[in-house]
Amino acid sequence: MINPPLITWTQDYAIGHQSLDEEHRRLVATINRLHAAETEGVKGRALEPLLRAVELATIEHFRHENAVLTLELHTPLGDEMGNEHFADHARSFAQLESIIHRINAGETFAAHELSRTLGQWFVEHVVGHDAPLKKTLQANAANEPKEAGR
Ligand SMILES: [Fe+2]
Repeated sequence: MINPPLITWTQDYAIGHQSLDEEHRRLVATINRLHAAETEGVKGRALEPLLRAVELATIEHFRHENAVLTLELHTPLGDEMGNEHFADHARSFAQLESIIHRINAGETFAAHELSRTLGQWFVEHVVGHDAPLKKTLQANAANEPKEAGR
């Protein structure tokens, strides 16, 4: 029997930027893999490779999202959205690192606690922290002159 995934991708998670959305989908898939492993009874440090996969996907994603903010959206450093978003990334990453550290220290988690924590963490990131980014992307798309013949 195939167990249902922890997170099912919905349009609510799409922010309207193709490659950032692809990275968000990759994070969902990676967290779902962790959830499936927990369902199969994988525990403790045996989950570390999957946590590292979430970590790597997160590093790449945050780096890219920061670049989009500064280079594509020209969010000035010191701007409220930029500052807040960069700070959110630092906080989110620290949370993730703390979970990996606890696993490495031998702490045990209840069944599905890790994937549920990370699932919540993802939704907070994409629906909470990326909401202003989505708004800016939508406003830019609405103001973009329609180019013909390119
Ligand atoms: Fe994001």
